[in-house]
Parts: sequence; structure tokens; C-alpha cells
Amino acid sequence: MLRLAIEGQGHTVIEARDQPDAVRTMQQSRPSLVLTDLRLPEGDGFGVLRAAKELDPQLPVIVMTAYGSIQDAVAAMKEGALDFLAKPVDPDHLLLMVERALAQRRLLTEYILLKEELATRRGAPLIIGEAPSLKNVISALQRAAGTDATVLLEGESGTGKELFARALHALSERSDGPFVAINCAAIPDNLLETELFGHEKGAFTGAVARKPGKFELAHRGTLFLDEIGDLPIGLQAKILRALEERRFERVGGTSSLQVDVRIVAATNKGLRMAVAAKQFREDLYFRLSVFPITIPPLRERKDDIPILARHFVERFCRDLNKKVATLAPGAIEELQRYGWPGNVRELQNCMERSVILADTDTIHARHLNLALHAPLQPVEAPNPWTSFDFSGSLADVGRRAQLEAERRKITQTLQETAGNKMRAAETLGVSYKAFLMKMRECGIE
Ligand SMILES: Nc1ncnc2c1ncn2[C@@H]1O[C@H](COP(=O)(O)OP(=O)(O)OP(=O)(O)O)[C@@H](O)[C@H]1O
Ligand SMILES: [Mg+2]
Repeated sequence: MLRLAIEGQGHTVIEARDQPDAVRTMQQSRPSLVLTDLRLPEGDGFGVLRAAKELDPQLPVIVMTAYGSIQDAVAAMKEGALDFLAKPVDPDHLLLMVERALAQRRLLTEYILLKEELATRRGAPLIIGEAPSLKNVISALQRAAGTDATVLLEGESGTGKELFARALHALSERSDGPFVAINCAAIPDNLLETELFGHEKGAFTGAVARKPGKFELAHRGTLFLDEIGDLPIGLQAKILRALEERRFERVGGTSSLQVDVRIVAATNKGLRMAVAAKQFREDLYFRLSVFPITIPPLRERKDDIPILARHFVERFCRDLNKKVATLAPGAIEELQRYGWPGNVRELQNCMERSVILADTDTIHARHLNLALHAPLQPVEAPNPWTSFDFSGSLADVGRRAQLEAERRKITQTLQETAGNKMRAAETLGVSYKAFLMKMRECGIE
């Protein structure tokens, strides 16, 4: 009857007559769940339970006991049984218990796998490069790792800010604690506060349960505030207080929480400029830049380009199960001549594309597809004043000069970013919208 009920749920059932038969069967077929009577013709359910636990301590065992023998049930639970069923067994109760036991086991397996994956990731990430400027950054990072000081990582997009933040955490005494990242630019302003500080149940419509924020989650670990330059001015005061006092309130909460976190912030725009433009609080800037580290752009460490390129080629070939390709000298030359506005990330993407495109085990310049992008050498600009229109009032000339300067600057930036308007706007320190309007005003396509 039990067999029929369980098979009816789509499971496979293997029967055993007594303890020796059960032990043999468990060893051979590795079941996901064991259901055993306590009384058996030979041996007993306790013997089966012990054999099961020896085979796999996580193997769930459910015992069936005679009606009223509660002592037996307690003894079995003490020996590690997951649960017990009193006879006569109610099939619905049995099925519920089986499903629950199997679900729990699946969760446990997933949990163990995740934990293992986490442990392998916890090792310090590999930072590739030999350039003296990069070596300086690495040694600064090692020095900072020994302290709890707030670190500000500055660098263009794709230079490795997140990579360095993770490395800093891995090298620090907090490496056993969590590394929690939040991207201030990617989260809408109205959600950022609850993301950072959490909220209480009922703090606003939709807050059906208490939710911890990133500050709490990072307790005893590192909190990585990515793109800190995009933090709305209203939130900057709250962050400042959280940094100064290591204390904050959840949204909708009254009691303040104390946390122990090390802060690492990153930005790809000049924060000092944002301070000057009154877009970023000066006091917060000083608080964040206790230990500033600037990661140099790839074009300023050209010798690292081939090293990184080979590293990425090796990795992508391995991922794609290809024989590791070599880079032709012509390809390396072209890589070094290119400006890499997207830095290491762009190089990484370029190498991935090349590995896919190359049909032989050599990557040639044509596989890189770089010629399509920005011109390799900037064109020599003619003296702007020789052809400048000086007619009209002083104000007219001033306006015209400003527009011309802006036009040149925008054109040049667009060349550097290979036509990427978003990145050009970032580089120029204006919003995307303002940038598009400026382009139109200057008559740039
Ligand atoms: N020195 C390096 N060695 C190996 N990999 C690197 C190095 N620098 C960057 N990378 C890789 O390049 C990619 C981009 O790095 P990361 O995401 O850390 O940059 P970022 O500065 O945070 O960029 P963004 O400003 O666009 O967020 C990642 O895949 C990273 O692993
Ligand atoms: Mg980043």
C-alpha cells in the first residue's frame, strides 16, 4: 500500500525485507530517503537508521512505529531519524512527509554547493599586470587591507575598481565576513535609501515585511559603494552619518542599529569636480577619501596590454574548449596602438570576440575588429583663431568662443569613447540629457 502511494507521486521505490537486505540495498542504490519499520524479521529499524547515517549523515530516515510506542519514536529521533509515523500509516500524511524530506534534502545540497562556490570565490581575485603604476596601486591596496580605513577607488570605467575592491576585502582581516556591493547608479533614487538601510514592516505601501539593508548585511565585512558619485545629494547626509557613527535607522524605524563595516567606495568621475560643482558634499568627500587609490587607465600602461590579452585569450579558449590560441605580432601591435576607452573590460570583450572569430589557433589583427573604432592618431587640429568669427559685441564673441570650445571638446570626447554618448557624458561630467542637448546646440550629429 505504501509503495503504491509513493509511486503514485512519481518516485521510485525499492523494497527490503530486513536489516541486512536494507543495508545492502542502500549501499547499492543510494536512495534519497529511507522509510523503515522499527520491527523487522531480522535486525531492526535502529540498525537500518545507523547504517543509513553511516552511509550519508544527511540521508533522511523516517521510522514507522506501532501505535502508542512513543518511547521508540523518541529514541529513533535521538539517533538521527528525521521524523516518525505511527501505524497504521495514513498515506496522505506519509506523502507530505516524503515531499518535505526530499525538498529539505535538495535545499541542503544546494546550500552545500553554494558554500563551496563561495569559498572558492573568497580567494583574492587575480590582478594581472606588471606596470609600475599598477604595482604601486597593488601595494597601496595591501597597505590599506591591514587597516579598517575607508578606501576610495578612483578610475575610469573598466579599469578594475570592483576587482580591486574584492581583492581588498579578500586581503583584509574581514575576509571571512561578507562582501556586499551596491551600485548607487543602478538603483532608482527613491529605492536607494531602503536598499542601503533596510526598512521596517509597514514603512510604506508594499513593505509587507522587515527587510535588512546593505549596511546590516555587511556587518563584520566590507560594504562596497559603487558609483558613489551618483549618490543623490539628499542621501549623502544620511550616508555621512552612517559612516561617522557606524549607526543608522531602518526606513520607518525608530531604534538605531550599530554595525561594524569597512567601507570601500568607487567612482569613475572626478569627485573633486563634483564637489566644486556642489553636486557632492565636501564633508562626505573628505570622509570617503581617507585612503584614495587611483587606478591608471589601460592606455597609460601599454606594456600590460599584451599580458592581459594573453591572459584573456587563454581563459576564453579554455572556456570554449579550444586549443589555446597565440596572438600574432601584428595583432599585439594593433592592441597597443588602440586607445581602450573602455579599459580592461573592453580588452576582455575584444579578446572574447577574437577567440570566437579566429578559425585557426592564431589570432591576427583582422580578428580584433579594432580598425572600425576610433581613429588611431588624433588629427592635427588647425589653429582655431585664424578662422574665428570676431564680429559683433563682446558677449557675442564670448558666446561663439564657448560654443566652439564645447563643440571641439565634445567631438574629441566622442572620438575617445568610440562614439559612446553615455560614456562621453560621464567623462564630461554632465548628465546624459544635458549632453544630448549640448550636442544639438553645437550642431554635432
Ligand atoms: N588588472 C586586471 N587583471 C585581470 N582582470 C582585470 C584587471 N582589471 C580589470 N579586470 C577585469 O576587467 C573587468 C572590468 O573590471 P571591473 O568591473 O572591476 O571594472 P570597474 O572599474 O568596476 O568598471 P565600471 O566603472 O565600468 O564599473 C572585470 O571582468 C575584471 O575582472
Ligand atoms: Mg564597476
